Parts: sequence; C-alpha cells; structure tokens
Amino acid sequence: MSDSPFLVVSHLVKHYADDRVGYTALRDVSFSIQAGEFVAVRGPSGCGKSTLLHVLGAMDRPTTGEVLLAGRRLDRLSDVELAVVRRRQVGFVFQAFNLLPTLTAVENVALPLTLDGIAVAAANKRAGEALGEVGLAARRDHYPSQLSGGEMQRVAIARAVAIRPDLVIADEPTGSLDSGNGTRVLELLSDLNRTRGLTIVMATHSADAAAFAERTLQLADGCLVESNETQPLDAPV
Ligand SMILES: Nc1ncnc2c1ncn2[C@@H]1O[C@H](COP(=O)(O)OP(=O)(O)OP(=O)(O)O)[C@@H](O)[C@H]1O
Ligand SMILES: [Mg+2]
Repeated sequence: MSDSPFLVVSHLVKHYADDRVGYTALRDVSFSIQAGEFVAVRGPSGCGKSTLLHVLGAMDRPTTGEVLLAGRRLDRLSDVELAVVRRRQVGFVFQAFNLLPTLTAVENVALPLTLDGIAVAAANKRAGEALGEVGLAARRDHYPSQLSGGEMQRVAIARAVAIRPDLVIADEPTGSLDSGNGTRVLELLSDLNRTRGLTIVMATHSADAAAFAERTLQLADGCLVESNETQPLDAPV
C-alpha cells in the first residue's frame, strides 16, 4: 500500500432532505485516517457520529464532499458498486448486535460470505475460525437467544472480520453492554487492530471506550471540532 492515507474525507456535507424540514447533520468535515489506525468518534447525541460512520461505510452518500477509501472515491460509485464495497471491504458492528435470530452463531458469521459467493463449506470453515478468534468456538451452534449480550457482540465482531474487511465500523459497540462485557469487546477490537492491522472507526459516548483508540475525532453539531491523539491508558492524569 502507498503512503497516501487510507481513508480521506474532504469537505463532507450531509443534508437530510425532508418534505417539510431539512437538517444538515455534517458540515464541511475533513480528516484522514491511515491504514491500521483505531479511531474513536465522540460527541453529544445528535452531533452526527452515526451519519459520518454510514458515509464512511458506504451505507449512505454524502450530499457534497469526497470520501476516498483505499484509493476509491465512494462518493462517485453507483448503488451497485457501493453494495459491493459494503459486502467486501467494510465490516459493521452495531450497538444492537443485529444478528439474525433464526441462525446459529456460525451461520450468522458465514452468511455474508455465502452472500458474496463463497461455497457453504468454505464459508462455515472461515466462520468457525473467526468465532475461535473471538473466543466463542464452543458457542458456534448456539442461537442468539442462547447467548449473553457480550457473546452476541463478539459473534457480530466475528461476522465483521470474517469477510477480511479493509475497514471496521463500530457504532456504539458497547452501548448495550455492562461494563465488564463492554471492556471485553473493546479489548477484542483493540487486539484485532494490533494483531491484524485492522483499521477501526468507532463511535462512542464513553471516554473509557475512546481510551482504547489511538486517536479521537470530536464532533459537535455536525462539525469536527477536535482531532487528537488519545492519551495512553497508563498515562498519568
Ligand atoms: N434520515 C434522517 N432524516 C433526517 N434527519 C436525520 C436522519 N438521520 C439522522 N438525522 C438527524 O441528524 C442528526 C445526526 O444524527 P446521528 O444519528 O448521526 O447522531 P449521533 O451523533 O449518532 O447521535 P447518537 O449519539 O444519539 O447516536 C440528528 O439531529 C438526527 O436527528
Ligand atoms: Mg448514533
């Protein structure tokens, strides 16, 4: 990979149009992220964190501005091309886990792989390995209703990484978990960042969660107000 940043956002504006009222959720946001960085996005409720993550993850388009992911301009892609980026390049982890209740853990993890054309046996093998990486090999045949919240989120992380994404987007991944399970999920994301070089962008309300990231982007009212290195966890206060 070249030295140019892996993810570049330039003058990003997102306006939600509505019949009666419009709302500008992102106003001229610019930043860049290097491959292998773990970045937290913080700011008050409604400041635009999820909106930004949706645009970075090819789930939504900017109104104006540029988004360059691994050398490709997302803002110029067709709907079909964006769907391929979502399927192959971006792993998503959501606050509410978003597992399918009628599928087992291993089937949930294998689903995006089979949807992308990988044969079922190979997809199941890779899904089993991903579950092993998140410490859930023994739960592979459990349904979501038979898993704890922390375990469900670890299955969701396995699903996100099993596609071998360029980028993992995590929107409040600990928002539905108690602090112990939340810490385990954050440690797991941090491990995947360090050992596999995964680039992670994580929205969070929590300063404790943001401390796991190397850098924090702070949003306020749709504007980027601060971008700085996160203090190491063991730094003196
Ligand atoms: N589809 C939409 N149509 C109109 N306005 C929207 C839409 N989606 C989000 N918004 C508005 O855009 C703003 C930013 O929303 P967003 O979900 O990005 O905030 P957030 O920072 O993720 O908040 P939270 O911390 O509560 O998750 C909010 O004021 C919200 O009401
Ligand atoms: Mg949000």
